[in-house]
Amino acid sequence: MCGIVGYIGSNNIKKILIDGLKELEYRGYDSAGIAVLNDGKFDSYKATGKLINLEEKTKDFHTKGFAVGIGHTRWATHGKPTELNAHPHIGESSCVVHNGIIENYVALKKELLADGVTFLSQTDTEVIVHLFEKNLKSINNPFEAFKKTLNQLEGAYAILLVTKSEDKTIFFAKHGSPMLIGKNSDKEIFFASSDTPLIGYADEVSYFEDGDYGFVSSDEIIIFNQNNEKIEPIFSKLSQNKLSAQKDGYRFFMEKEIYEQSIVISDTLLGRLKDDEILFDELDDSLFDGINEIKLCACGTSYHSALTATYLFERYAKIKTSIEVASEFRYRKPIMTKDTLFVVISQSGETADTLETLKMAKKAGLKTLVICNVDNSSMVRVADACILTRAGVEKGVASTKAFATQITVFWMLTLFIAKLKNSIPTTEITRQISLIRQIPTSVKVSDSMHERIKRLSKRYLHGHGFFFIGRDVFFPLALEGALKLKEISYLHAEGYPSGEMKHGPIALADPELFTIALLPEHLHYEKAKSNVEELSARDSTICAISALEFDKADDFIKINSCEDYMLEFFEMMVVVQLLSLEISIRLGNDVDMPRNLAKSVTVE
Ligand code: G6P
Repeated sequence: MCGIVGYIGSNNIKKILIDGLKELEYRGYDSAGIAVLNDGKFDSYKATGKLINLEEKTKDFHTKGFAVGIGHTRWATHGKPTELNAHPHIGESSCVVHNGIIENYVALKKELLADGVTFLSQTDTEVIVHLFEKNLKSINNPFEAFKKTLNQLEGAYAILLVTKSEDKTIFFAKHGSPMLIGKNSDKEIFFASSDTPLIGYADEVSYFEDGDYGFVSSDEIIIFNQNNEKIEPIFSKLSQNKLSAQKDGYRFFMEKEIYEQSIVISDTLLGRLKDDEILFDELDDSLFDGINEIKLCACGTSYHSALTATYLFERYAKIKTSIEVASEFRYRKPIMTKDTLFVVISQSGETADTLETLKMAKKAGLKTLVICNVDNSSMVRVADACILTRAGVEKGVASTKAFATQITVFWMLTLFIAKLKNSIPTTEITRQISLIRQIPTSVKVSDSMHERIKRLSKRYLHGHGFFFIGRDVFFPLALEGALKLKEISYLHAEGYPSGEMKHGPIALADPELFTIALLPEHLHYEKAKSNVEELSARDSTICAISALEFDKADDFIKINSCEDYMLEFFEMMVVVQLLSLEISIRLGNDVDMPRNLAKSVTVE
């Protein structure tokens, strides 16, 4: 997602800020900008697209001596990736960069507009700078005005703010989005969203905790915690290895992305949950007018998330739903009727087959929606409506966090449609929304769970194949588990509906056939269990994943007890991801770049 840098010092500030942003490129962005306060004057530059465009714009910009500056790479969430929407956002005498989402920005903007403030952008971020300036006028103390501003903000953020009234200082706050500070013996100060921009510049770094805020100059670093207590920063030496810094200490990007799921799902939920309804500001209610059916189309992992949605849509939203693999759909001359909402799902928004089906549906006059992770991608530009999954850049070829956020969006969309169609009672919507709020906790990786899977993985490096089996929504999860394993371990794996094993595949059962059984406590437990027992009786080696102990299994991975099967889904999702990861690592494979695969398949 977005990246932030900041600098206080007398070296070449333009270069330090832009070089810093380059180190954050891996997070993904669609525009960038910097603002520098030098000699009482602000200079600000913004550009869409790659950083080379910003470099071009700033080629004649030079500063002398001491300066304070901030920079930002933006991954669009509120408002298109235009120059006006790029950060920093500037007020009369201050500017701000922000990573995260201000959930109550609509209300704040309304108040500021009523006060006569002019807004230049469509972003949530711009309210911060105007609110700060309004507070500064009444309080006349920049830090107190900043503090008051923070108290008025709801949502998640990492913020850097610079103001002329305190021209040697950067004000900062961290609440939910990452940020750290670095320093060196030349009294230079650096801020960034991750370590990498600071390598080669700072000697020591200190990571902010959620709720930390304060102000920093070359002479002092003042930090308060969430309880408004002044705290001393704890500085540690900075590692000098850039690649490992990008991986935040994880062995592979895929591992990092599995661990990140809790945070990115929180981002996916931001601003979209009320107690008894789901808000998708980006959707016009009329999108569903005259719609009697939903058709889903996707490839790979995105297909599996969409398959999960078919169960949820029909069960709760009570809308007829069908699904198809995009490469099949595009050539079979399908019948398309205008009462069908055509929904494509794609991490990249560029997959050629999926994009083509979207174009076909548009041509046939259907309403179209894309659920996508990359704003401004081809599919986002073509579709009538778009919901962004907000997973941030996914580097591992084997998709993990993108899948997790897609499922989250689909669950929310189910309730959104259910409310529109009045298909389930409001009490049920409220109950499910409270479950959705628990997803970030359900996907947190515990050390003991990861350790157990690491140990178990050594028993699953051979054999003649794996069957991942599950019922209902656990069938698409079984497909996804098998796909993950195939992609990165190169072992043969298949996903199957548990009840279907007896119609053929069970012929393969022997001790060298590994069955990974998904046994949710809250959905068809007894039925799924008897399917596993049939396999166990034929001597297949069983690894059961469940909250309930299962004595017929050779191996057992216990998930936390949950209130609902959908939370069990998320718990088991993490288990199958980690199992594939650990098997692949033991086999010595390149987890992030498996052979023969591409992250984004833009050819047929
Ligand atoms: C490729 C990737 C998969 C992905 C699929 C669909 O095959 O390796 O991880 O699921 O494309 O990609 P999309 O970007 O459309 O979700």
